[in-house]
Amino acid sequence: MQNIKGKKALVTGGSRGLGKAIALALAKEGVDVAITGRNSKSLEETVEEIKNLGVNATYSVFNVAEKVEVKMQLERLIESFGAFDILINNAGIAAFGGFLEMEENDWEDIVKTNLFGAYYVSKAVVPAMVELGSGDIINVSSTAGLKGNAVTSAYSASKAGLIGLSESMMFELRKKNIRVTTLTPSTIASEMSKDVLKITDGDPEKVLQPEDFAELIVDILKFDKRAMLASASLWSTNP
Ligand SMILES: NC(=O)c1ccc[n+]([C@@H]2O[C@H](COP(=O)([O-])OP(=O)(O)OC[C@H]3O[C@@H](n4cnc5c(N)ncnc54)[C@H](OP(=O)(O)O)[C@@H]3O)[C@@H](O)[C@H]2O)c1
Repeated sequence: MQNIKGKKALVTGGSRGLGKAIALALAKEGVDVAITGRNSKSLEETVEEIKNLGVNATYSVFNVAEKVEVKMQLERLIESFGAFDILINNAGIAAFGGFLEMEENDWEDIVKTNLFGAYYVSKAVVPAMVELGSGDIINVSSTAGLKGNAVTSAYSASKAGLIGLSESMMFELRKKNIRVTTLTPSTIASEMSKDVLKITDGDPEKVLQPEDFAELIVDILKFDKRAMLASASLWSTNP
């Protein structure tokens, strides 16, 4: 086990849901956290909550799907906050429907956000990790990336693509002492999954909570640096 206190983390999509729970769990371990999203008000509120835990925290507003914006904002952020030891590629969107029905622009937005977004952010953040000679990257994919479904063509394509990107980064970067983990969680209670949970009629008490996922991430980051988790699926036990 290693202590992660004093490290610096970037959590994309950190304003709510899984990203917020991860940011708060890291802060409880003494990690300084920067969060990102597109809505400055919710980012500001979450940063206040993180700061109340006694660590440094800040936020940056950008759309992960916009290559130029990502590069510019992350250059600024790294200059002011410092190089990141930990990157959690968590920002994502979902929309469900048959591929024949879904508008092409909506389909493209999902892939651009969930796959290209993680690529753009990693391109901006990883060079400083390489210079440091260490780092941790966790890419948040989904069980939908492991298996397609009649109404998830865009989401499954984006998350399957992310698995391919993440595994390839893992093989490339482990030689530089950078650990890359691909996570494929099942449904977790959040804004994104609220409609899915209504349809499946699951017991809200028994469905995975963002805090369960955050706990897994903290545990992975605490592994001794000679050990890394390549991939894992987190499921509700009996939803
Ligand atoms: N909840 C689940 O059941 C579940 C299961 C498996 C995997 N996942 C994955 O887990 C991640 C987090 O999901 P969640 O359930 O926490 O979703 P959520 O509650 O909708 O939160 C998504 C976060 O991502 C940010 N975001 C969305 N699009 C963005 C963009 N284009 N640029 C920058 N930030 C963006 C949002 O902030 P703004 O809207 O302000 O930009 C928000 O902070 C996603 O990648 C999702 O696919 C979720």
